[in-house]
Amino acid sequence: MKAAIFKSYGSPEVMEIGDVDKPFIKDEDQVLIKVVSASVNQYDNLFRKGYFPTRLENGLTKPKAQILGIDVSGTVEAIGKNVQKFKIGDHVFGSCAGSHAEYVCPRQNVLSIMPINSTFEEAAAIPCAAQTALQALRDVGQIEAGDKVLIYGASGGVGHFAVQLAVYLGAEVTAVCSTSNLEWVKNLGAHHVIDYTEEDFARNGKKYDVILDAVGKRTFFSCLRSLTENGIYITEHPLYPKYHPIQLMIGSIIGSKKAKIHLAKPNDSDLDLLRVLMEQEKVRPVIEKCFPLNEIVEAHRHVESGRTKGKVVLKIE
Ligand SMILES: NC(=O)c1ccc[n+]([C@@H]2O[C@H](COP(=O)([O-])OP(=O)(O)OC[C@H]3O[C@@H](n4cnc5c(N)ncnc54)[C@H](OP(=O)(O)O)[C@@H]3O)[C@@H](O)[C@H]2O)c1
Repeated sequence: MKAAIFKSYGSPEVMEIGDVDKPFIKDEDQVLIKVVSASVNQYDNLFRKGYFPTRLENGLTKPKAQILGIDVSGTVEAIGKNVQKFKIGDHVFGSCAGSHAEYVCPRQNVLSIMPINSTFEEAAAIPCAAQTALQALRDVGQIEAGDKVLIYGASGGVGHFAVQLAVYLGAEVTAVCSTSNLEWVKNLGAHHVIDYTEEDFARNGKKYDVILDAVGKRTFFSCLRSLTENGIYITEHPLYPKYHPIQLMIGSIIGSKKAKIHLAKPNDSDLDLLRVLMEQEKVRPVIEKCFPLNEIVEAHRHVESGRTKGKVVLKIE
């Protein structure tokens, strides 16, 4: 089968299209999917560049797993003996390592049936970014109706889902992004918008119960004054800036304000919820660009720019 592969760590140019063995069902819980679409995440860039913590997992000098991709949508082609939730021909979406390829074989517990009103591209845009936003706000932030929530980096993959999900959870939402994205972020449902090129939210005197730093560009300390007494700062990117982990450790034991690092946990019940929210038109992915698989280098370059508006997806079939 065809796949986007990388044999050494480096810039987007290390990506190439290659022929690799088609995966097959080895475990009774697996589902063989013919991939139609997969999204490109910052996670793929970190693994491609060989960012040090990823090398501990994927090989110190060269990548062991050569196919990137963590989100998928496609058609079920075969099922393991224990799979009851899906049948051959179903359209599914979910989380799966190595999804930048024509076929993948994830377990059933990280998949869900696609929303009836979504394209394959939209479905592939949902899993990682939307689950990250949902779990951060609902489980870590424990948002309640009426809470004041600020989403920093509201125009990115995680951020644009976070705005919609915070609104769904009943919060009063302030979204922070750059000038050109203000209008469409407002259209996602944000009650207030702040242009970070004009104003630093941390200096305007307003306070929030939850601050979700969806792009890892702020620090807990820089947000302290903007948190309510029991406010929580949540970051999606624990490794930037450099001293973040130390700040988080200190912050998490001093006073009543808390700092939390969140790592997404893929699971089918959150995907099921996201499917329902999508069908009820409470959540909708925005796809800035869709690249064919053979333009994988351009897709990586685009995501690496850090300016993606919503999501970037690959068309694989
Ligand atoms: N912890 C987890 O489980 C998990 C899961 C998924 C992602 N992540 C991490 O979360 C981060 C965000 O991922 P993503 O997919 O949402 O990224 P993304 O889509 O690439 O984010 C792009 C957005 O970032 C905004 N941005 C860039 N610089 C900014 C700044 N200085 N201030 C505010 N906004 C800025 C841009 O908006 P403007 O053009 O308007 O500036 C753009 O819309 C990444 O670090 C990723 O690794 C973590």
